[in-house]
Amino acid sequence: MIRSALITVMVQAARKAARSLLRDFGEVENLQVSQKSPANFVSAADRRAEEVIFRELSKARPTFGFLMEERGRVAGSDPQHEWVVDPLDGTTNFLHGIPLFAISIALVREGVPVAGVVYNPVADELFVGARGQGAYVNNRRLRVSARKELADCVVCCGIPHRGRGDPARFRAELAAVQNVVAGIRRTGAAALDLAWVAAGRFDGFWERGLSAWDLAAGLLLLREAGGFATDLDGGDAILDKGSVVAGNEPIHRALSALLAAA
Ligand code: IPD
Ligand code: CA
Ligand code: CA
Repeated sequence: MIRSALITVMVQAARKAARSLLRDFGEVENLQVSQKSPANFVSAADRRAEEVIFRELSKARPTFGFLMEERGRVAGSDPQHEWVVDPLDGTTNFLHGIPLFAISIALVREGVPVAGVVYNPVADELFVGARGQGAYVNNRRLRVSARKELADCVVCCGIPHRGRGDPARFRAELAAVQNVVAGIRRTGAAALDLAWVAAGRFDGFWERGLSAWDLAAGLLLLREAGGFATDLDGGDAILDKGSVVAGNEPIHRALSALLAAA
C-alpha cells in the first residue's frame, strides 16, 4: 500500500463523499418504484458529493487548482498542481438504481496525472495509485492481464447514446472488435473501466467523447499497473482529446490497430 500524506488526503475526501453518495443512492433505490423521476435528486447528490471533495481537498492543499465536472475550472495559486475530479462517475447507473458508480480524484502535475483514487462505494473497492509507486485495490497490488491474443480477451467500451458522439463510427469500431474478441462489456463508469483494466478484469478498453475527469485517475492506475494507453489517434493527448484505448502492451497495440482500420 502507498503511505503518503497526499494519498491519505485523497482517500479521506473520496470516503467522505462516498458516505454522502451512498445515503442518496439508498433514496434513489426507493424512488425507482415511485412515479417521480429521481433526476433532480441525483444531480443534487452529485453536487453534494463534489462539494464535500472540494472542501476536503482545498482544506488540505489550499494552493492547488481544480477541474471538476460540476464546478468547472478553479485556478489555484500554484499553477503546477490541479485536482481533476468526477464526484460521481456512472450517473446514469446511479439514477437507475444500478449499483455501479465511482468517485474519481486525480492530482495532475503539469498535465500529467501523478496520483489517483477511484472508489466504488457499493463494492467498497478503493483503487489507489501514485506515480512510480504502483497501484493497489484495497491494499492488493494491481497488475494488468497477461493475455496476448484478442481472441481470449474481454474488452470494455463506451457506447455513444442519444445526441452524443458519432454512432456510425462506433458501430464500425464495434463490428471490428466484436469479430475477434471473447467478450465485450459496457459498465457506464469510465473511471471504473480503466481501474478494471488496471486490475486485469478487462483486457482492454476504448471510448471517445470523455472528459479529463473521467480519465485522469484511471489512467494513472492503469499505467502504474503496467498498462499502456494512448488517445485514439495514437498520441498522448488522452485528457485533452477525451479518447482512449488501453490494455497491456500487446492488446493495446492490437486493439489500436483494429480501431484505426475500422
Ligand atoms: C460518464 C461515464 C460513462 C461514459 C460517459 C461519461 P458520468 O460519466 O463515465 O461510462 O460512457 O461518456 O460521461 O456522466 O456518469 O459522470
Ligand atoms: Ca464521468
Ligand atoms: Ca460525473
